[in-house]
Amino acid sequence: MNRTDTTAFRNALGEFATGVTVITSIDGDEQPVGVTASSFNSVSLDPPLVLWSLAKNAGSLAAFQTSGHFCVHVLAADQEALSQRFATRGSDKFAGLEWQSGIGKAPLLPHFAAQFQCKTTYQYEGGDHVIFVGEVLDYQTGEGAPLVFHKGRYATAKTKSPGEPAGDAVNISEGSFSENFFLYLLSRAHFQASHDLNQELKKQQIGLAEYLSLTLLGMSGALAYQDLYARLEHTGNAPSSANMTTLQEQGLITETVDAARFSLTVKGRDLYVRLLAVSKAAEQRLLDEFDDAEVADVRNFLQRFIVASDPGVPSLWGQQ
Ligand SMILES: Cc1cc2nc3c(=O)[nH]c(=O)nc-3n(C[C@H](O)[C@H](O)[C@H](O)COP(=O)(O)O)c2cc1C
Repeated sequence: MNRTDTTAFRNALGEFATGVTVITSIDGDEQPVGVTASSFNSVSLDPPLVLWSLAKNAGSLAAFQTSGHFCVHVLAADQEALSQRFATRGSDKFAGLEWQSGIGKAPLLPHFAAQFQCKTTYQYEGGDHVIFVGEVLDYQTGEGAPLVFHKGRYATAKTKSPGEPAGDAVNISEGSFSENFFLYLLSRAHFQASHDLNQELKKQQIGLAEYLSLTLLGMSGALAYQDLYARLEHTGNAPSSANMTTLQEQGLITETVDAARFSLTVKGRDLYVRLLAVSKAAEQRLLDEFDDAEVADVRNFLQRFIVASDPGVPSLWGQQ
């Protein structure tokens, strides 16, 4: 391997997804030290041994070499800021942090996915790093999914379904390309998730254009017909004047005295709130099937997808 290929070598190593740990100890003045390390790994179950490596130019190297103990905190998915804090050289890494002294006075941080208190049993030369092997004297597990580091970026772990193809969606129907067509998946997810709401709309004899008008008036307050139409046109379900008449006849909306704008009646607001509750309840029931990290990922993806696919439609629910 060519020595100038450091970046390529780093990139290749970055393909190995790891967790992220913060490893703490004390220096000769009994001051706390700590570093972020992704080199942590298990070594042996009996005796219980773990290892990690620290760069020889780390400010905390001498402390870890002489203290005799260290404590490994496996970080949880919401601890990216803590990872950054302990990866920042020359800063007061413990400023404002709550911590207690553990075995060998190694600082114990309060939050973690797992924590291992260790006695330093071996130290090995490892090129530009020193490899520390520790015997685990005590350990605890915490709450939450772990933080992941992959290709130089933070990530979250997503559990794969059994048999799920690598990096691909689950096939809803075996061997059919069209059933994994992305827009099909989006619209099928949408109509299935809207099932309860659609049943309620049917019961109330409210059509889609009428429902969208009700919702928009509920969120934006009184609007002129032209405004309602303009904001809903891109959905393909802008209300016709017949739809507005139906809503008026049902006592759900009313025209302002100057007949310039429409607004919800008390009955209309009640229905709007009930339909919102039906949607929210259905959403909650479905989201309970998935873990928080998965939901956060999909929400984030959909928000970016909406921005990327926006052909310049007006803000639907926001004030203009
Ligand atoms: C996700 C992540 C993983 C890291 N893993 C290691 C590691 O395993 N070993 C190491 O020496 N430095 C690692 N670093 C860099 C150190 O955390 C950083 O250089 C630290 O400030 C060194 O400690 P010092 O402040 O005592 O010099 C990592 C940084 C990040 C962001």
